[in-house]
Amino acid sequence: MSDLRQLSRTGIHVTPVALGCWPMAGVTTLGATDEASIATIHAAFDAGINHLDTAYVYGPNGESDRLIGRALAGRRRDEVVIATKCGIHYEGAEMQTDGRPETLRRECEASLARLGVSEVELLYLHSPDPNVPLEESAAELGLLQTEGRTKSVGASNCTLEQLEAFHAVCPLAAVQLPYNLLQRDIERRTIPWCMANNVSVFAYWPLMKGILAGGIKKETELAPNDNRRKYPMYVGEERDRNHEFVEALRAAAAITGHTVAQLVVNWTINQPGITAALCGAKRPDQITETAGAMSWQLTEEQIAAIEAALVRRGQAEAKRVFE
Ligand SMILES: NC(=O)c1ccc[n+]([C@@H]2O[C@H](COP(=O)([O-])OP(=O)(O)OC[C@H]3O[C@@H](n4cnc5c(N)ncnc54)[C@H](OP(=O)(O)O)[C@@H]3O)[C@@H](O)[C@H]2O)c1
Repeated sequence: MSDLRQLSRTGIHVTPVALGCWPMAGVTTLGATDEASIATIHAAFDAGINHLDTAYVYGPNGESDRLIGRALAGRRRDEVVIATKCGIHYEGAEMQTDGRPETLRRECEASLARLGVSEVELLYLHSPDPNVPLEESAAELGLLQTEGRTKSVGASNCTLEQLEAFHAVCPLAAVQLPYNLLQRDIERRTIPWCMANNVSVFAYWPLMKGILAGGIKKETELAPNDNRRKYPMYVGEERDRNHEFVEALRAAAAITGHTVAQLVVNWTINQPGITAALCGAKRPDQITETAGAMSWQLTEEQIAAIEAALVRRGQAEAKRVFE
């Protein structure tokens, strides 16, 4: 078992590698199957992972929640820390944000029902709704906590100012934001604020949707329906630079006796203020590998090699939405 990390001030402890369940919803990930997804959840448990990250909107029909519900059969409830989210839903093929209190409540209840649980450990507002005062959304999540639907509350995709406004109404246990070796904007303001306020930080896209795991070859053309084509990090010169960077990391990883995915996630979970990395997977071998990022330490020399590779890579193109 790896070191466990406390979720803010709660008595809940999570492993520093969590299973991100978005890929198994099968929306943007090609080739996900129910059987492989359930086997992936079991492989995560077998590898010592105790935290699953899902959301009401992970699949047009709540596929991720339902698969977790099936995978949990026969397992003790206190063995797993479940986080779900409300505030985004599908309308046709499009995702819509809706932070109205009645919607948040309905989506929370639906997610719990699909999961087959009466309460989760962590409930996030998935994203602030520009048409609803954030305080109203925050107050509803606080109420759901008081009513025993969740043990703690988090917020995702919020700027620091939005986190502060949320926290003033409903104390936050966690935030969930993009963070990896090449997307480090939240180190500037958000992580220091979280550390000062004892708010846990859960990093999404630790593998930058797969490219940092080192499995995608430079010469491989992404399938026309591979959603990653729309991200700058997968296009043109940026993609070339990312592949060169991954090769440098691969060399650094070999010295540690680990894979590049394990090195990348190890670096991530050992950054100041990071509680856990939410690592997506759709197959058991992927999460088994990524779980191997836990329970070892990079040496100072190895960290220096990673930093040198970062300097050679240069600044990644980024939108700088969350800082
Ligand atoms: N709050 C939010 O708005 C938000 C947004 C995004 C994500 N999240 C959460 O964060 C989690 C992580 O994000 P993500 O799943 O999009 O991206 P990610 O964890 O950066 O990358 C996951 C992808 O990397 C590839 N992969 C994983 N392990 C691998 C391995 N060992 N070897 C080779 N390839 C490997 C797989 O893609 P292929 O097999 O297809 O190559 C997998 O789908 C999500 O699952 C979700 O729980 C939250």
